[in-house]
Amino acid sequence: MRRVFLWAARNAWLRDHLPKMRFMRRAVRRFMPGETMESALDAAAPLESAGIGTMFTRLGENLESLEEADAVADHYIAVLDAILARRLNGEISVKPTQLGLDLDEDRALAHLTRLAAHAATTGSWVWIDMEGSAYVDATIRLFERLRAVEPRTGICLQAYLRRTAADIERLRSLDPAIRLVKGAYDESASIAYRDKREVDANYVALAVSFLKESRGRPIRLGLGTHDVALIEQIAADVATAGVGRDGFEVEMLYGIRTAEQFRLAGAGYRVQTLIAYGDAWYPWYMRRLAERPANVTFAIRSLLP
Ligand code: FDA
Repeated sequence: MRRVFLWAARNAWLRDHLPKMRFMRRAVRRFMPGETMESALDAAAPLESAGIGTMFTRLGENLESLEEADAVADHYIAVLDAILARRLNGEISVKPTQLGLDLDEDRALAHLTRLAAHAATTGSWVWIDMEGSAYVDATIRLFERLRAVEPRTGICLQAYLRRTAADIERLRSLDPAIRLVKGAYDESASIAYRDKREVDANYVALAVSFLKESRGRPIRLGLGTHDVALIEQIAADVATAGVGRDGFEVEMLYGIRTAEQFRLAGAGYRVQTLIAYGDAWYPWYMRRLAERPANVTFAIRSLLP
């Protein structure tokens, strides 16, 4: 089922037709407060009052022209201004191909640099999402070049990739900010762990060794997962090395395990919710359905009036 949804996420015909169906629009609302920036910012208020920080991402990937990338960068500048105006503890999270990575790498870097410089003046941060494996080298290169000039920047790395331990080692001298996720794309067994137990074991090993070896350094590690058992296992493992619950962050998606987000924040974890919005939600939503069969039942129920 996972592979079918990940195939559907890449299918151009489905991407053009399915989002027009009303039941699809109704179903996606579970994971998205709305399509506009304002709806995403409005959704932050109840989270913030429980001490939960937010990250905002406008959905969209693989643009067709550099002009589109320019508009995306302008949009994120406006998001940073709005975060400041609303006094939110908010950050932004951007897909590199949304800024034109596969069209012009230098231009994508220029956009990221502009965003990170603006984030520094508004007291925010810029996170770089990680896309399919074809983009990992270029994305890490972008992060290294960006981080050399703008420190308030982080990168997402995927525990299902066999290369990630080496990537973390390569980035270690930068005292990086890393969001560790399991990985959302369909990758081959030659480069990725495909068994859930192997992915989980690698996730724990990467998080624990990064936190232990970076103790006392100005790193950030975001555990980008809804797997609460894994989060609690990592917290217990690093506690023995003197890293407390405030030594890393827990990052979850809007609408997923909401009660756990509030519970963990109340239990002393630093929690952040990533709120997605925008009209280009189709491939992103398909990846959410791929993650959990129960979401498909929910989507089918949305067929009912
Ligand atoms: P896993 O799939 O093992 O799920 C653990 C438990 O969490 C499930 O049993 C279920 O209870 C709950 N759960 C998980 N997914 C759910 C869903 N969709 N609906 C309802 N419940 C669900 N990926 C990537 O490749 N690049 C990126 O840049 C990012 N960025 C990112 C940011 C943040 C903040 C998060 C939380 C995730 C990402 N991801 C990502 C997605 C990530 O790679 C992964 O696909 C999802 O987080 C699902 O895996 P889990 O780690 O949650 O565990």
